[in-house]
Amino acid sequence: MMDGVSLADIAQNFGTPTYVYSQQAILAAYKAYDDSFAEIDHQICYAVKANSNLAVLNELAKAGAGFDIVTGGELARVLAAGGDPKKIVFSGLGKTAEDIRSALEVGIACFNVESEAELYRINAVAGKLQQQAPISLRVNPNVDAQTHPYISTGLKENKFGITHEDAPRIYQIAHDLPHLKVVGIDCHIGSQLTQVQPFMDALDKVIEMIHALAKQGIALEHIDLGGGLGVQYIDEDVASIQQFAQLLLPKLKTLGLTLYLEPGRSIVANAGVLLTRVDILKPTEHKNFAIVDAAMNDLIRPALYQSEMAVIPTQLNSPVEAKVWDMVGAICETGDFLAKNRVLALADNDILAITGAGAYGFVMSSNYNSRPRACEILVKEGHAHVIRERETIESLWQNEKLVD
Ligand code: LLP
Repeated sequence: MMDGVSLADIAQNFGTPTYVYSQQAILAAYKAYDDSFAEIDHQICYAVKANSNLAVLNELAKAGAGFDIVTGGELARVLAAGGDPKKIVFSGLGKTAEDIRSALEVGIACFNVESEAELYRINAVAGKLQQQAPISLRVNPNVDAQTHPYISTGLKENKFGITHEDAPRIYQIAHDLPHLKVVGIDCHIGSQLTQVQPFMDALDKVIEMIHALAKQGIALEHIDLGGGLGVQYIDEDVASIQQFAQLLLPKLKTLGLTLYLEPGRSIVANAGVLLTRVDILKPTEHKNFAIVDAAMNDLIRPALYQSEMAVIPTQLNSPVEAKVWDMVGAICETGDFLAKNRVLALADNDILAITGAGAYGFVMSSNYNSRPRACEILVKEGHAHVIRERETIESLWQNEKLVD
């Protein structure tokens, strides 16, 4: 069940594979951030990349959320979903001149700048529009986020941000460029951080930089600590949003700056499941494979990061004997698995829910093996609403052309 709606019924009515999100859970997580930081000026900017369905963005926009975007595409989505441009921060390494122009035209809150070259680019575009672009520098505090290397971003060998050593010089350039207005400082050290300590370490480094900048005559209005608080997928010990706030607040209060946060995963991951149907059971001498109708094209996290996500049956199948199964997709790759070594009582056509799938699930899906992408459903006030139709096979080649 999800908020009073049967997941088995959703599978029956809309087919599988299907992503299902709880509006209530999304808003509860957003509110947990908003309430926990109530003592200081703050803006929670949901990281659109985690789940960018228009209906999800629209619910968050109505609740007062801002948005963290990384492309012109995400900007357009937020605007289409009714997001307030004044609450948008624009992160990312490779903002194009066109992206920058669109963002300046609608008046976003801030560009999080990741290189000296990007400063000149933003200055030039803002100059043409006769504007001053609000900017922060994304600094790299060289903190080990203790997470998977592919989603760790705050070490000096990573491609992100500006080093501690370069920051004073590049801030000075920003300060001196005529079409830029330095408003803040930003960092994001990685994703799926289960403990608060790496955030505290990063905050200490950023506070040092804020003091050094003040001595240079550069005063800031806000501090952006990025996203990254992790979630429990199976049985990991993860700090809560409230603990995160309690530990950071004392230091933040002494700063007196507006706090921006860019959480993605911790808002949507556990608000969503991926429903999939057991298609073929293939017990073998070495392993038991349950071939399900979702695959790595629908949910790539297990294949890409060896992520473990919980799998639960949507109905109890007590007469069947429980066995250890690998849940795999039908794609022609050995890496196409969704879960390994799970003890489950499985029968043909059982509907399984992969939990924690609300973040970095559908958004990372592809059409590999010419598989149409899944349907997305939002459960709101006791009803299941289709928020993205399942793709049709014909739509897969609609932009393709034959050559004579
Ligand atoms: N801000 C910036 C600048 C980011 O790069 C990210 C995530 C976030 C905020 C949001 O972080 P979150 O609160 O969601 O941890 N596909 C990977 C995660 C990649 C995260 C990329 N950046 C996964 O499935 O685990």
